[in-house]
Parts: sequence; structure tokens; C-alpha cells
Amino acid sequence: MKFIVCETPKEIGEKIGQEIIALVQKNPKAILGLATGSSPLPVYDVLANAYQAGKVSFRETKSFNLDEYINPPFEEATYRYFMKENLFSRVDIRLENTHFPSERNPEEYDGEIAAAGGVDFQVLGIGRDGHIGFNEPNTPFDSRTHITPLTESTREANARFFHSLEETPHEAVTMGLGTIMKSRHIVLIASDLSKVDAIRSLLKGQKDLLWPATVLVDHPSCEIFVTKDVYEAAKQ
Ligand code: GLP
Repeated sequence: MKFIVCETPKEIGEKIGQEIIALVQKNPKAILGLATGSSPLPVYDVLANAYQAGKVSFRETKSFNLDEYINPPFEEATYRYFMKENLFSRVDIRLENTHFPSERNPEEYDGEIAAAGGVDFQVLGIGRDGHIGFNEPNTPFDSRTHITPLTESTREANARFFHSLEETPHEAVTMGLGTIMKSRHIVLIASDLSKVDAIRSLLKGQKDLLWPATVLVDHPSCEIFVTKDVYEAAKQ
């Protein structure tokens, strides 16, 4: 696990965006693992700009998103909609090549990922409580794609995407921690001070079930991108 400290979220977006562009230029059939939330948005801007400038094509690329809400109150709240708005409609990826876990058959998602060849490059954000995807504290480190209740902390953090906390979903379907660990390369982004405790848990370098992202300490190719303010605060 390598920490990469950047001045701004934009710099993080630029660095990760360039890694993905280089991968897709080399292997147009690359399999991307994608995340929602505010953290990856600068990455998606870099990908969209590179596509629009003719530098890269995602025509043969496949994607597998980390997670999806169960019973969101309106379509615009789904992660599929979020991805269309923020990435898919801005590049030439084919929508039939974009995948999301489904509450109907979560157990099939790991097999679909494996059948496609496995995730080459996984993008992760991180929750305040250290969740990745929607793997909340105490999720087993070897978990596969599954349905999970959301903690109150996560619902409060995500209520900004809904009209009220009451409307915020209580459940989601998410890749498991074991699913995520199978990715060949992983980048995690933390660019907001609400993530300081979660980053501190990673800096300790030891697996802790209460901090799900610490599963990554065992990954052979994982980069943790943090802004300087988050890093400095986490070190204290
Ligand atoms: C949600 C998503 C996570 C994401 C987290 C952080 O809970 N399921 O995948 O990492 O939000 O979001 P943000 O980047 O907006 O802080």
C-alpha cells in the first residue's frame, strides 16, 4: 500500500485519470471497476476530456460498478444514473458493457466479473466509517457481492443526494471486500477532512474489521491518494 499525497482533489483526478488512460491505450479491452460519490468526479472529468480530445476510446472497455442502492425513491438517485451523468454519457463506452450488482442475484456478480477476465483497475472512494463500496464495519474480509444494511453514519453522509434522511435508502448491494481484493490494481481516494479517521486506520497498516478499507493493507498493488490536509490531520 503506497500513499500518494497531492495538493488538491484535481491533482488526484489528474494522476489517476492518466493511469487509466495509459491502461486503456495499452489495452482497449481493460476492465474498470468504478465508484460513485464525489471523490472520483475529478477522475471522470479527466477521462471525459481525454476522450473528447481524441486521446483515448472506451469503445471496447467494460466496467463493473462497486455498488447500487436497493429501492431508491427516484431513478436519479440510482448509481447507474450517477454514472451515466458523470462518465458514461461523456465517453464512448457502450452501455451494454457497463455492469452494476443487482439485488435480484448478487451472488452472480463475482462470477460475471471473473468471466470478463477480472477487474484490471479498481477506483475506490472511502466512507467516514472506513467503508469501501458499501462494506460497512465488521464485513468479513473475504466477503463476495452481497446485500447489506447501511449504517446511520453512511445514510446521514449520503442524505445530501436525497430530499431527506427518511428518503435515504436503508439497504444496498455491494461488491464484497474479497471481490474488491481480486482487482489487479486498486486506487483509493480521500480528499475530504471527514475521512481523516478512516485514513488514520489505514496509516496504522494493520487489518481491523472495524475499518473495512484496512483489508487493502494485504493488496500487492494499491495506491492511496490523499490530499495534504487529510494526510497531515490523519498522521496526528
Ligand atoms: C458511498 C459509496 C462509496 C463511496 C462513499 C464516499 O457510500 N457507496 O463507494 O466511496 O460514498 O463518497 P464521497 O466520495 O462522496 O465522500
